[in-house]
Amino acid sequence: MTKQTAQLTIDGNTFALPICESTTGEKALDIRGLLRDTGCITLDSGYMNTGSCQSQITYLDGEKGILRYRGYEVADLAEHCQFIEVAYLLLTGELPTAIELAQFKNDMTKFALIHEDMIHFFDHFPPKASPMSILSTMVGTLHDFYPEMDLDEDPYGGITTTTARLLSKTRTIAAFSYKKNMGHPLAYPRPDLSYCSNFLYMMFDRPNLPYTIEPVLVSALNKLLILHADHEQNCSTSTVRLVGSAGVRLYPSISAGISALWGPLHGGASAAVMRMLEKIYADGMNYDKYIEMAKDPGNPYRLTGFGHRVYKTYDPRATIIKKTCHEVLSTLKISDPLLDIALELEERVGNDEYFQKRNLYPNVDFYSGIIYRAMGIPTNMFTVMFALGRLPGWISHWQEMNLGKDSSRIGRPRQVYSGIPTRSFVPLGERH
Ligand code: SDX
Repeated sequence: MTKQTAQLTIDGNTFALPICESTTGEKALDIRGLLRDTGCITLDSGYMNTGSCQSQITYLDGEKGILRYRGYEVADLAEHCQFIEVAYLLLTGELPTAIELAQFKNDMTKFALIHEDMIHFFDHFPPKASPMSILSTMVGTLHDFYPEMDLDEDPYGGITTTTARLLSKTRTIAAFSYKKNMGHPLAYPRPDLSYCSNFLYMMFDRPNLPYTIEPVLVSALNKLLILHADHEQNCSTSTVRLVGSAGVRLYPSISAGISALWGPLHGGASAAVMRMLEKIYADGMNYDKYIEMAKDPGNPYRLTGFGHRVYKTYDPRATIIKKTCHEVLSTLKISDPLLDIALELEERVGNDEYFQKRNLYPNVDFYSGIIYRAMGIPTNMFTVMFALGRLPGWISHWQEMNLGKDSSRIGRPRQVYSGIPTRSFVPLGERH
């Protein structure tokens, strides 16, 4: 906190608001004493201008298209790291040494199985159950099968047992839910495979059709999970922090975050993009029909995969994902008409004044689904993939909140009441 203040005058009285400085990016008006000093609260529907916390995990600049995890450019991490290296960075604040990485890889292997009793749960979901409701339910249930240790009692130090279990078992739950949905026998995790290779193996290996692990897909999956790993105070991360602030343990807090990510305006967008592209394809490439619908103020339709609450320029993640799309499809010699439609749609939107004026560019969800399709992952699992990527970010924020100086403070926003001020009670017989 600096000595610099902002002056606020209300009804002729002037108040000094302290300024909270950042190490980079926006500084903030510290309004923690506002109600006590002025009798006023603030109003900011959707929290577009409100900081909920101070955080050291991720920095993004929406004007310049900057995204850094613990100070490292996300493009460098996506280019040079494996996903679990970046997970380690988010969780501990440092990139792992070779020894630390080897230990973390052992943890992923050690904790890859889920309790056999949990496997029976899959049999009792309805056949058409959403993979996101399965994931949220199963992750919440981990708490009952693996009682969590307090952060300071856990022997692992940097990466706790509780965290390592969650990262590895969530991957297994995702793959097993797919196998169960397909009616295929489960492919149990192998100790000789990396985090991403093991996921693809668990998803697609079959006794009669052994799965061949494609390096280009493993590399693409590492990149996708890294690019989804954190994004500061987005809807689902804020949900994890808010639920955790009530003293809720890690696994149920993450289960709440999974439910928040499910929304079509948030993590559900990648699946919605594919449905939009398929619709344009089925509609004879009638791009203008969908663009005009999205521009019509009377029509709630939006071009999903475009726009962002923070990025008012190209989402830096979309740049890398778009490039990876081309790499994957050309290496595997796949020609996907949906990629051509996506490229043409981006081109037309980019030349349209409506979108230019509102700074609407492709976001992280616009091209990711095309890569997942090339991997063989069904559209209804795209948001599950987003959750697998975002998991280390959610855990890091939950830990930061719990270890921070505000750890005992429950999150509880205020409101501006706009209802009927007061009225006398009317007995049932006198109501008309
Ligand atoms: C993610 O927060 C994060 O960091 C999220 C995320 C993460 O990593 O966690 O980045 C992941 O959620 C990415 C976003 C995925 N969602 C979509 O692709 C859904 C489509 N996008 C929009 O619904 C919208 O852009 C949002 C929800 C992403 C952002 O909405 P905002 O910030 O509330 O913007 P807004 O609704 O105020 O829109 C401003 C204007 C409006 O027009 P006007 O009222 O000014 O005339 O832009 C228009 C909107 O109608 N607009 C769109 C549009 N997005 C915004 N018009 C057409 N198509 C769109 N996609």
